[in-house]
Amino acid sequence: MVEGYWSTQTIRAAVQLNLPDILRDNAVAADEAARRAEAHAPSVERLLRAMVTLGLCEAEAGRRYRLTELGRLLRSDVEGSCQGRVNFVGRTLYPVFAELGEAVRTGRRAPSVKGEFESSSPAQVAVTQAAMAESSLIAAKAACEAYDFGRFSTILDVGGGFGGVIAYLLARFPDLRADVFDLPNVKKGAEAYLEKKGLEARARFISGNFTEGVPEGYDGYCLKYILHDWQDQKANAILMSCRRAMAPGATLVVLEMVVPERLEDSVAHRTIARGDMAMMTWGGKERTGDEYRRLLAEAGFELTRIVPTASVFSVIEAKPV
Ligand SMILES: C[S@@+](CC[C@H](N)C(=O)[O-])C[C@H]1O[C@@H](n2cnc3c(N)ncnc32)[C@H](O)[C@@H]1O
Repeated sequence: MVEGYWSTQTIRAAVQLNLPDILRDNAVAADEAARRAEAHAPSVERLLRAMVTLGLCEAEAGRRYRLTELGRLLRSDVEGSCQGRVNFVGRTLYPVFAELGEAVRTGRRAPSVKGEFESSSPAQVAVTQAAMAESSLIAAKAACEAYDFGRFSTILDVGGGFGGVIAYLLARFPDLRADVFDLPNVKKGAEAYLEKKGLEARARFISGNFTEGVPEGYDGYCLKYILHDWQDQKANAILMSCRRAMAPGATLVVLEMVVPERLEDSVAHRTIARGDMAMMTWGGKERTGDEYRRLLAEAGFELTRIVPTASVFSVIEAKPV
């Protein structure tokens, strides 16, 4: 546990050098991989050797290396790719976690975190949103297996980033229409993402600020990984915007990890705790079911059910009261 730093940055270095996409399905000689990565050959070989010890590469005769089944997920072009996550964790979360103790001591976000998405640089937006879109595809798939999204004819994904959630839903439900609502600095990347998925005719990107208001007229409103970014006051403002926009029969679907009343030493609970520590550095928090019930009630919603999924996300359904 203490030495976790090295695997995070070893994997990130491999992705930064594009090695997973260079190896693809082949065994490639270390020198050749280095030539294509435009990097120092002996060092690339040492990096590939390290990847072998992590179970991400296999060594073959002739100092050739290939990706393992697990290592394949580091490629950019495979289903379930986690390249975005590798970059986001290594570049954004990693340095900020060094300030976790300070965040705990003060009860405020980590000193180097500004906490405003509006002021993110284009490079930060690209790295963060690519990771979010990857996680959204996984969350949406798990959510669809546990909860009937087929009931909606129109969905607005509030703070939907590049549109990972709606990309999955639109592919699964051919009659659905869905839009993404997010800050103006996300528009360019989101439109490129939706176009790449062939969805530009069925999904629009709408720019705005979700604390001020969100568009009316959808029968489903989705919030994935939004409420956990904020303390209760700002989370309430976001929920109130949704509440004002929603007709009486509309449904709010929140996709978040729900903290159990009692945490144990298990992989699933560790994932939730990791998310909570990340939110501590960021200035937000993961919440229990009761905390979500209260937060939603204060904004004029009744929490109707919490549906667990096979992933770490739960579907929290709420209706306007
Ligand atoms: C943690 S990301 C989640 C993105 C997306 N829901 C997902 O899970 O893939 C939070 C999102 O909220 C958006 N956001 C932050 N502040 C916002 C605001 N004031 N108005 C609209 N969107 C905002 C960010 O741009 C970002 O896309």
